Amino acid sequence: MHPVTEIQASPQTLPSLRRYDRLAVSFHWAVFVLVALAYAAIELKGSFAKGTPPRALAMAVHEWAGALVLVLAVPRLLWRLLRGAPAPEPGARWMQRAGAAMHWVLYLFILAQPLLGLLAMNAGGHLLALPALGIEVPALVAPDPALKDSVKEIHETLGTAFYLVIGLHAMAALFHHYMLGDGTLRRMWR
Ligand code: HEM
Ligand code: HEM
Repeated sequence: MHPVTEIQASPQTLPSLRRYDRLAVSFHWAVFVLVALAYAAIELKGSFAKGTPPRALAMAVHEWAGALVLVLAVPRLLWRLLRGAPAPEPGARWMQRAGAAMHWVLYLFILAQPLLGLLAMNAGGHLLALPALGIEVPALVAPDPALKDSVKEIHETLGTAFYLVIGLHAMAALFHHYMLGDGTLRRMWR
């Protein structure tokens, strides 16, 4: 077999031109863990009675995991704009385009969703704070009940819609790996 064909047919480690760099991979999986934590916490919150400490803790975990998503999403997006991405794995053009479009939608989500959550909180008259550590994130807006209601609704709708979008994204990655057998998942791994 020609050596190049051999590399493309069964690569153990993808050549660097075909992979995301280490920082991009670290950003991807760190954001994934934080988004999963934010979702898990807000789901758990509903199972605790109102006014109980576990419910308050679940809410705080949701808010802080979500806020950390934003803290990572900004440098992640800058790194992506600066470094670009490896050319897509060979395949149907429509699939490559759909993948690229999906990635920008996901970037928009990890920036917008925490911002909306923070806005809803501030408009409701609350600050994101950890008093024990003396941390207090300044308010983005003054208290405004009407703004709070509308922003909170958008945050909740978007949060629900993205279960589906993230699920599709993950299924596409697994489809590439197990059905198409290409390097799409491996290039975002390690
Ligand atoms: C990627 C980050 C985030 C995701 C995926 C996310 C997702 C969600 C979801 C799914 C809900 C529940 C929707 C429902 O009940 O139908 C929710 C509610 C909420 N989130 Fe977030 N959120 C994120 C970040 C944040 C941040 C950073 C804050 C505030 C600092 C925040 C504040 C809230 C608030 C106040 C609610 C309403 C809770 C309630 O009244 O039950 N979220 N979020
Ligand atoms: C919170 C959940 C997730 C978010 C927000 C997210 C976001 C993203 C974004 C923005 C990209 C584009 C990277 C770039 O080009 O700069 C990407 C790529 C990728 N993601 Fe995710 N992702 C999530 C979960 C997952 C999961 C669960 C999997 C695997 C099962 C996965 C597998 C991949 C793969 C393989 C790529 C590279 C695709 C390619 O280069 O064509 N992601 N993800």
